[in-house]
Amino acid sequence: MTKKFILRVFIVFGFCIACATTNNASDAVPEKVFSVTYDNATISVPDNETLILYYSKMGTTRKVAKRIHALMPEAEFAEIKSSMGIMKAVFWHQPFNRNAKIEAIDVDFSRFKQIILCSPIWFQKISSPARTVINTMPLQGKRMHLIITCGGHFGEGAREKLRTLVASRKIEPVSLSIIKTGGKADEELHQQAEEALQAVLPNRQQAVK
Ligand SMILES: Cc1cc2nc3c(=O)[nH]c(=O)nc-3n(C[C@H](O)[C@H](O)[C@H](O)COP(=O)(O)O)c2cc1C
Repeated sequence: MTKKFILRVFIVFGFCIACATTNNASDAVPEKVFSVTYDNATISVPDNETLILYYSKMGTTRKVAKRIHALMPEAEFAEIKSSMGIMKAVFWHQPFNRNAKIEAIDVDFSRFKQIILCSPIWFQKISSPARTVINTMPLQGKRMHLIITCGGHFGEGAREKLRTLVASRKIEPVSLSIIKTGGKADEELHQQAEEALQAVLPNRQQAVK
């Protein structure tokens, strides 16, 4: 069996869990970007005080994050790297809300007021390397925008749990955008990344097209 095949099996398994953990058909993610902003969304933070962090296992979230960075070139951009195996994530991190081991992120967190955290959804929860960032990095008091990619299902209850997790770490959850990635070409992903940014940071100028 190839690695790709095993990953696909896990994705199907993920959708089964996703379906099992909800009884509301409206929890399916629409084709268009879904964005929600919270009470504290009106403040505008300069791009050079913004840190874009992303984790991507299979490359899709990377495309979204890179597009966002292209639109905010003055923001700092860093990848969350982890050598964690997917089996460990599936059978240990996700069911038990464990952190994944990640490499050190070489940025001075004290410089930033605002974090844009991009991550895939695994079994209705943020990926474990991104969870590690929320749980262990010095982000207290900072504003956080979550840009989430998923295959098509991230229910309302799960979204609320993610917001609660962020708030429990004394990070301010400002917005959540969800991009359904399944079957989308790069151009459409880029377009949706732009729409997500526009929805959650409407007051900033877009630097490049
Ligand atoms: C282990 C695993 C679990 C997943 N669980 C879900 C899920 O619960 N809901 C969903 O819509 N997509 C799920 N997906 C799909 C991914 O969230 C989606 O393909 C994402 O865009 C992948 O991002 P990446 O290419 O940056 O790794 C899962 C994928 C994997 C590998």
